[in-house]
Amino acid sequence: MIMAMAGSAVGLGNIWRFPYMVGEHGGAAFIIIYIICCLLVSLPVFFAEATIGKATRKDTFGAMEAIAPDGRFKNVGYIAIVSSFIILSFYSVVGGWSFDYLLRSCAGGFSGKSITEAREVFAGMGSSVLENVGCMLVFLGLTAGIVAGGVEKGIGLFSKISMPVLLVMMIVIASVSLTLPGSKEGVAYLVRPDFSKLNGAAIAAALGQSFFSLSLGVGTILTYSSYMHEDEGIIAAGSWTAFFDTCFALIAGFAIMPAVFAAGIEPSAGPSLVFETLPVIFSRMGVVLPVVFFLAILIAALSSSISLLEVVVAWLVEQKHTTRPRAALLVFVFAAVLGTACALVPKVFNTCDFISSNVLMMAGALIFSMIVGWIMPRETVLQHIRSRFIYGLIRYAAPVMIVAIAVTNLL
Ligand code: PHE
Repeated sequence: MIMAMAGSAVGLGNIWRFPYMVGEHGGAAFIIIYIICCLLVSLPVFFAEATIGKATRKDTFGAMEAIAPDGRFKNVGYIAIVSSFIILSFYSVVGGWSFDYLLRSCAGGFSGKSITEAREVFAGMGSSVLENVGCMLVFLGLTAGIVAGGVEKGIGLFSKISMPVLLVMMIVIASVSLTLPGSKEGVAYLVRPDFSKLNGAAIAAALGQSFFSLSLGVGTILTYSSYMHEDEGIIAAGSWTAFFDTCFALIAGFAIMPAVFAAGIEPSAGPSLVFETLPVIFSRMGVVLPVVFFLAILIAALSSSISLLEVVVAWLVEQKHTTRPRAALLVFVFAAVLGTACALVPKVFNTCDFISSNVLMMAGALIFSMIVGWIMPRETVLQHIRSRFIYGLIRYAAPVMIVAIAVTNLL
């Protein structure tokens, strides 16, 4: 399950948000803050969520019932399932774009294009209902297909194969990118420490990013942990996932920013970086590089989306006694509806993104850490995490920091 957890963590968040955030918020100074946030807050939340999963061996909803049979936390289970579903829906739209761009790159669709032309291609894809929705459905279908294959033979197998392949692909892109003339500026953008940019907003950004990147607060880590083998430890699983996720984010930074600076372009975050700037820059280096790049994004997105779909499927299988393939199909159908709305109406897309990343995830992370820190018996928790220090972080540091960040964001 550790590979599957790493797969859930490594995703679009690492590729299109992390490199830009690093540059925006002070380079190496931000990386240091990011790592501190990871160690003191996000990792303890990860351990808390995983403890709930491994101790109860249930889906998100069942776990909440097992902890409080009087039904006190029933709604928490529902919130997590709904957040996973919402993230899955808008995530699939971007997954669909990656699929679309993979096909375009295979056909050499970006060679000789300028950034302005690439911008038109992206806008054209957005306004073509058939292409936009069709590709989203293909992505969602692939996700549901893997999940229907089962925990070991579907999710586990996909993660075991895809993670090493993904790592190699990103290292190849980074090596090419770092040898381009003018790439040094991009390296400087990522590593030059500028401590003057470190303020409350930067810390909030670091924490929010590490929650999203480690897939916390929506039940994915909880659900995967419920499938862990007895001899797989929570501390090892969390530490490896965070290590792999952070390394991957840094490699993605070195794959992307040097190329962007070598082409003399101002970096940005989100769709415009990945779907407008990079295809043009990479296709100047031949047809292979854009194909590798979009295949990497597609794999990274899939390994995350399967974990989101699994949260809902696990609930349907365990609580509603549906068969796994039928549950996967059902989630596919509902997510296709919300996904279509996200694909066609940017406002729906942005609202889903905002509510899930800024509200639901934070709430989920807060509640999971409070449940483990204050509700579950201390001995049960210590059996799994074996460290009083980490227990203290879960009990005090994580909730205090989450509330502080939420207040900072509100202000
Ligand atoms: N961690 C994934 C990423 O970085 C996104 C994600 C969030 C996946 C929450 C599952 C749950 O892209």
